[in-house]
Amino acid sequence: LPAESVTTGGGPGRTSRAAVSVAGLRGSGSPAPGGIVRRHVLTAKKATVQLPSGRRIDAWTYNGQVPGPAITATQGDLIEVRLHNTDIGDGVTLHWHGYDVPCGEDGAPGVTQRAVGPGEDFVYRFRADQAGTYWYHTHHASHVGVRKGLYGTLVVKPRDGRRADEHSAAEQVDLTLPVHTFDGTVVIAGGDGRTEHPAPPGAPVRLRLINTDSDPHRIVLTGTPFRVVAVDGRDLNRPGEVGDVGLRLPAGGRYDLVFRMPDTSVALVIDDDRDGGVRLRPQGGAPGEARVEDTSGLPELDLLRYGTPAAVPFDARNADRHFTMVLDRGVAMVDGRPAYAHTVNGRGHPAIPDQLVTEGDIVRFTVVNRSLETHPWHLHGHPVLILSRDGTPSRGSPLWVDTFDVRPGEKWEVAFRAANPGIWMNHCHNLPHAHQGMMLQLRYD
Ligand code: C2O
Ligand code: CU
Repeated sequence: LPAESVTTGGGPGRTSRAAVSVAGLRGSGSPAPGGIVRRHVLTAKKATVQLPSGRRIDAWTYNGQVPGPAITATQGDLIEVRLHNTDIGDGVTLHWHGYDVPCGEDGAPGVTQRAVGPGEDFVYRFRADQAGTYWYHTHHASHVGVRKGLYGTLVVKPRDGRRADEHSAAEQVDLTLPVHTFDGTVVIAGGDGRTEHPAPPGAPVRLRLINTDSDPHRIVLTGTPFRVVAVDGRDLNRPGEVGDVGLRLPAGGRYDLVFRMPDTSVALVIDDDRDGGVRLRPQGGAPGEARVEDTSGLPELDLLRYGTPAAVPFDARNADRHFTMVLDRGVAMVDGRPAYAHTVNGRGHPAIPDQLVTEGDIVRFTVVNRSLETHPWHLHGHPVLILSRDGTPSRGSPLWVDTFDVRPGEKWEVAFRAANPGIWMNHCHNLPHAHQGMMLQLRYD
């Protein structure tokens, strides 16, 4: 489909060349043996949608709903999505957040494709080889589009229906719960908008939490001990049971929580708001409002000390490439003019030099935050392994993430293998920050 992936100008010449060079990196045409083709049509359009609270908002949507249609698949299926834009004048794309798609499917406008304008189409096609919890969103003017509703969930179930943890049998209750803020109101609900769900006592439950906002959220699960079995779609090694802890979910990040449904209610509390969030009620049990305790004093679970260490596939001490990114705020050149910007090494996008890698390299990033704001750092197309935070090495399960929250003053070390050729956005997932300069490209030579 070369015609679909060639940029027709509009960006700096450097970007146009890039788009042409990834034209050959389009997705595979067939499912794995035993897999099927999952076809969807996503139509971007403006619509009025009703929030679970009953309030109506003017949204930008995929198929008239927020979140957009839930895309689910089993490992090995081929996902084929035709994106059609009706009336989003700025244009739209689909970016598969956290999913290591071939570069040509990545939905980065001006890099892997042209933004899809009103009346236009683009077909994405990739094989769902990784199980886990992911999401999709527009990557064009995403600081506006995602906030207005252009996002949805992507869940890929393991092919053999099993997981490494003890809740490996297919969960009887499996809820995907994006967290999103509309006009100051936090909404956590899947496509059906329900914030209360019945669950049979004793049933294995999996909650898939997805932060589709630009700020972190604090999440507390009360009424049962639980395990965090996956972070950003990737399983943790032997995660232990926890309770009475807060979980900090970075912008763009995902946590999968599992537990057995008790015979009393379970509450998922967001940002210590005891009235909001999600309730699970024991099916067949007596109704009655479960009292939610004050959660604000609970400590935060440190994921760098959670789970059990295990071997990782490379030695990050011998990296082939090492890039340092100092995140700050200040005056930088933006669109040829000096402007107040979020900067990387003193510059704002598109003036930040590309990071060049060779396929097979072990790449190390040092990310230093010298600003007063949190920067959820996000690399496309590759999971990164957390090595250390502020000099304290990761001591728990290997932690593979696509977004990590670098708080003011912090310094993080991460590493990954350059195993997915192309040109990849590398940016802050606070989307207004990315828009104001905090974005660059990692490029294979
Ligand atoms: Cu979820 Cu570059 O984005
Ligand atoms: Cu930021």
